[in-house]
Parts: sequence; C-alpha cells; structure tokens
Amino acid sequence: MKHLLSIETMDSESIETILENANVIKTQRRNCQDQPLAGQTWAMIFTKSSTRTRVSFEVGIRELGGSVMFLNANDMQLGRGEPIKDTARVLGRMVHGAVIRTYAQDDVEQFAQWSDIPTINALTDAEHPCQIITDIFTYQELRGPITGKVVTFIGDGACNVPISWIWAAAKLNFELRIAAPKAYQPCPELIAKAGGKIMVTDDCNAAAEGADLLYTDVWISMGMEEEGAQRESDFAGYQINEALVAKANENVLVMHCLPAYRGKEIDESTLEAHAETIFTQAENRLHAQKSILKWLTE
Ligand code: CP
Ligand code: NVA
Repeated sequence: MKHLLSIETMDSESIETILENANVIKTQRRNCQDQPLAGQTWAMIFTKSSTRTRVSFEVGIRELGGSVMFLNANDMQLGRGEPIKDTARVLGRMVHGAVIRTYAQDDVEQFAQWSDIPTINALTDAEHPCQIITDIFTYQELRGPITGKVVTFIGDGACNVPISWIWAAAKLNFELRIAAPKAYQPCPELIAKAGGKIMVTDDCNAAAEGADLLYTDVWISMGMEEEGAQRESDFAGYQINEALVAKANENVLVMHCLPAYRGKEIDESTLEAHAETIFTQAENRLHAQKSILKWLTE
C-alpha cells in the first residue's frame, strides 16, 4: 500500500517517477484515455482552508475517472472528538483513497495506518509535499534539471513549505538556502538529518546571491493567527522585491505557493512581474497531483 505522507519518507526514484509522469499528464490532458481511478471514490478531509489544493485534487480525481467527496473535518464526528483511528477504519471500508489537510502530521500518518487505503498529505504543520513536488516540476518545466541549482527560500524557515524543501534538497541534489529571522529558522537536527547542501542564515541578500529560484510563503501560516502581530514585526524585511531579485541569477524564477500577501512576503510589482511563473506553478498542482494519484495506484 503506497501513501504520500511526506517528502521525508519518499525515495528519490519515486519523486523522479512522479515528476516525469506529470509532464506526460500535462501534455496529454485533453486527449487522455487513462482512467486509473475509474470506479473509485476518494474522500478529501480538510480541517484548514484551501483554494488550490482542494480544487486541483477535486478536478484531478475526476479527470482520472474517480468520484470525490469533500468533507470539512468540523462537520464530521472527528470534529467532536471521534478518534482518527476509528474514522480511518470506517472510511477505509467505504472509499478507495483519502486526501487530508490538517494540523498534526501524526494524524495523517495514523489515518494511513488504520484506514488501509492510499492516503495523501495535503498539508500539515510539518510538511506540504504535494506543493514542493509541484514546485520542482514547475522549475524543471521552465528551466530544465534542478540538479546543482540554487533554491533560496525567504520567510518563515520553520514552517511546512521550507521543511518539505529541506527534505527534497538532498534527494534531488540541489543547493537550498533559507533566509529567516533566527527565531524562525529550521532546527539544526532536522537540517543534519536531511543532509545535502543547505545554508541557513538571517541575511536575505547573502541567500539570494546567484539564486536560480527565489521562493517565498506567507509569514503567518494557518494556525499561527494569534502570533500575527508579532510575526509581522519579526519578518519585516524578509520580502522578495526587485532589490532582492537583482541579487539573484539573471535567469531567476520567482515562485510563491500562494495565497500571497502583497507588501508582506512579496511586493506587488514583483509578484505581478512574475505572475506567469506563479500562476503556472498554481496550475501545475493539478498535473503534479494527478501524477501522484496515478503513482499511488500502480
Ligand atoms: N498553496 C496551497 O496549498 O494553496 P491552498 O491553501 O489554497 O490550497
Ligand atoms: N505555510 C502556509 C502554506 C499555505 C499553502 C500555511 O501552512 O498556511
């Protein structure tokens, strides 16, 4: 039984297979007869808000021949305290796969263990694996192999998105630089465990020097709203803007997983100057996740 729970637990070969198939799936979208989810019903259980992940999975599951039901976790008995392992055993007898967005990574892992159906992490506090697979797919689509390139993340270096980047760096052999205020840097044990070439600094300019990909995410992740005012003050200056882009490689791509908060982690003119890349990145969630779904069923 295959799951997609984290980049941490994936092997390089599986990531490469998903990336290669995503390319074929995108190219053949309009005339594809491949329906690996025919006859299947998938459940999407979300505790947090979503636009891109929800829509791309709902469309993707349907395009692969499956049916999909969206379940707001708060409308389920789960929201009233029914244990994950009971919910998982019930759903596992009725549906063929699950896509879960929640807080604790352990909840997704427990669901996978107890449900006995393919389970996908659609974002937890620990990782956002589908996003990073999509981002790498997008980089390679636009610029060729990511091997040996320099990826620079600016912002909250301890949240789900950079953590998935950290696990990807050694597996796909690119250099990762993370510029974050000291209190928001990933823990050294995690960096050591991941291996690979990773620089962590509080200096945005040093991190951006010669970068091939400049990447950011929100300063205030879902669940961190109470720290909002403190974070806005702590992250001031950790922004992708024209001055920072000027430090990077002249061929640099600017990406943002979205949603974007203009004037915070990216300024308006930089976002709009790189909108073609950023919205291709958003579109690619569909193609990359269809590839993940296909890989899970093989
Ligand atoms: N990037 C991303 O996961 O977007 P949503 O929160 O809208 O799904
Ligand atoms: N780090 C962000 C990602 C949103 C797609 C969050 O968790 O809210």
